[in-house]
Amino acid sequence: MSPDAAARDFIGLDTRYRLADGRVTRRRYLDSAASTLALRSARQVADELLPHYANTHSDSHFSARIAGRAYGWAHARVLRFLRADPERYTAIFAGSGCTSALNRLARALAMRRPEREVVLLTLMEHHANDLPHRKHAGRVIHAPLSGDAPALGPVDLAALEKLLVQHRGRVNYIAVSAASNVTGILNPVHAIAALAHAHDAWIVVDASQQLAHAPLPISDTGAADRELDAVVFSGHKLYAPGSPGAAVVRRNLLADQEPDEVGGGMVEDVHLDGYRLARRFPDREEAGTPNLLGAVQLGAALAVLERAGLERLHAAEQIRLRALIAELAAMPGVRLYGDLDFERAPRLGVVAFNLDGLEHGLVAAALNDYHNVAVRNGCFCAHPYVRELLKPELWALEIDPDARDAAALLDRWRGMVRASFGWYTGDDDIAALLAGIRDLLARPEHYRALYRPDAGGRFVHRRFEAPAERDFDPEAALERALAGSGVTGDML
Ligand SMILES: Cc1ncc(COP(=O)(O)O)c(C=O)c1O
Repeated sequence: MSPDAAARDFIGLDTRYRLADGRVTRRRYLDSAASTLALRSARQVADELLPHYANTHSDSHFSARIAGRAYGWAHARVLRFLRADPERYTAIFAGSGCTSALNRLARALAMRRPEREVVLLTLMEHHANDLPHRKHAGRVIHAPLSGDAPALGPVDLAALEKLLVQHRGRVNYIAVSAASNVTGILNPVHAIAALAHAHDAWIVVDASQQLAHAPLPISDTGAADRELDAVVFSGHKLYAPGSPGAAVVRRNLLADQEPDEVGGGMVEDVHLDGYRLARRFPDREEAGTPNLLGAVQLGAALAVLERAGLERLHAAEQIRLRALIAELAAMPGVRLYGDLDFERAPRLGVVAFNLDGLEHGLVAAALNDYHNVAVRNGCFCAHPYVRELLKPELWALEIDPDARDAAALLDRWRGMVRASFGWYTGDDDIAALLAGIRDLLARPEHYRALYRPDAGGRFVHRRFEAPAERDFDPEAALERALAGSGVTGDML
């Protein structure tokens, strides 16, 4: 399959909804930074496994061996995707996104070097790559970003190095996102790895926003000092909804210490007064029955991405992204965030914006209800970063960006709208977004009159309702499924 044909191989590209003006149109899905659509072929691989489904901890029957092999294949695919040496790295599946893996890593690394109580982050982290370190790993310090709000760029490397020097001998690790989920801005993670290693610190990279858009090898040059020690990501952001989170970790960071979670499948022997852990990776790090189908679906999605050539997809996305940013930057009334200079601040397909005089919640609601453009709005689980980006404009509105009470006024203005791309994003999707933005800017008062803000800052249409069960009702779906399989009511 060619990469272009594969771009149409997603479930949900033809999803239609009835809009507030009565038209039924195709959804334009521009919320891939939250979760991507499902790659049909990857899903099919998991479906083909289903007739053989069995527990990976059994091994005496045909199905169990098939399941075990498929699960091993998924691990191997993850390692290969990051070009990680399977002798020195292990892939671990955990939870339903990378949050679980980040919590586990924070606990494991804190346990490994309890005397090093400092963790360095950047100001652009998602809460998933911030709160676990605060809770489990010690004192967190947020390194500043380059540039000035609202044109902030990647992490300021000189400032990061200064923090490493200032806290010499006390920094356990640096945790940094490869790409921001708000602006798509990339951090130079391999250069950060070299800095960290020069100060005997480790580096944990949150690659959740990068891997659907651009490759991220464990080492960019092959040099050992530029190797990433741990990389985490979420399968549901990589075209495999329902898959687990994944971590690729240097084995010697986890070896010879008690795994964070214990239970079945990761011990060699258990007595009433003790137990002996399995030595094998990843078994010792994966207590309990795994999400086999999700892991296999993820492995298949990674394999398809590899075949399509992530570099090529990245290049195609950059053309669309630059065109969208150029168009928005030239439109009066649009405010963009993050440094727009692609040389200084390379970015992936995530664009955050606001429209003059229109609250982010109102923009997102009207784009959905009248244009069928699915975007996200708010602070995207990155409150410190969004606040920093918004500071100049909030001050101008005489709103204190750092106010701690969730005043309605603050919620209405403290946030942005985010449009984010996936492999399937086409010029027609971007054209629909631009048309929606132009319409909103041309008739702000018309849209304002159609909505009222509720107590939580959400904008609710005064007349139009689209209850979720109108388009999908699990009970109705169940009835159809039962009827389709010939199971009638009196048999149940
Ligand atoms: C950069 C980044 N890190 C971490 C996460 C958390 O991922 P999950 O909710 O899948 O655990 C997200 C999700 O939006 C993200 O964008």
